Amino acid sequence: MDTIITIDGPSGGGKSTVSRMLAAKLNYTYLDTGAMYRAVGLQARQLGVDLADEDQVAAMLADLDLHLEPGDGDTRVVLAGEDVSTAIRSAEMGMVASAISALPLVRQKLTELQQQIAARGRVVAEGRDMGTVVFAKARHKYFLDASPGERARRRLEQLHEKGEEAAYDDILAQIVQRDHDDSTRDLAPLKAAPDATHIDSSRMNAQEVLNFILDQLAKK
Ligand code: DC
Repeated sequence: MDTIITIDGPSGGGKSTVSRMLAAKLNYTYLDTGAMYRAVGLQARQLGVDLADEDQVAAMLADLDLHLEPGDGDTRVVLAGEDVSTAIRSAEMGMVASAISALPLVRQKLTELQQQIAARGRVVAEGRDMGTVVFAKARHKYFLDASPGERARRRLEQLHEKGEEAAYDDILAQIVQRDHDDSTRDLAPLKAAPDATHIDSSRMNAQEVLNFILDQLAKK
């Protein structure tokens, strides 16, 4: 369990950037588990699966053909042979992923896949339940958070960079809603593992967070 570093936290806390940088620095594989939930959400959408119908969900998961291919930047996500890396990144797919991630069958399936990937090598595992459930025995756990206002500001900046327009208040409302949904679900809710190191990145940039984590790792 020395080969696994977990990074959990709410959306917009800076997990993805920091996890990617950390994985590159240490030569670990970056495991983007949010991308996996997004891909399953997309699959359900494409197949018209009724999420309330367990048989339909089970059938979809039994045929799930999902591969993550780590690249230099974002992980390439391949669903049934098709590159869906861009399609899964919309705000709408984030909401779909959040809804589907509350289903026990989905969590069970993706937990298995995540553990299989980690069994093949060293990983920086990023998500909501990495330190609490999927890799509860990991030695290095971090919980990365920032104030909702700061997270909304960062998200807005990302959208602007992509040439998309959005209102700050709408983004903030979405963030608050998703935090609420992710942290109040029964199964594997968003919360810090008791042995995780908390980092509030509201006033830190990605490089500062990375340096802090590298420092901590060196001390252990
Ligand atoms: O990190 P993200 O925004 O790509 O994640 C999308 C959704 O997937 C998020 O709202 C909650 C869910 N998720 C989860 O339940 N467990 C994980 N380990 C990762 C993501």
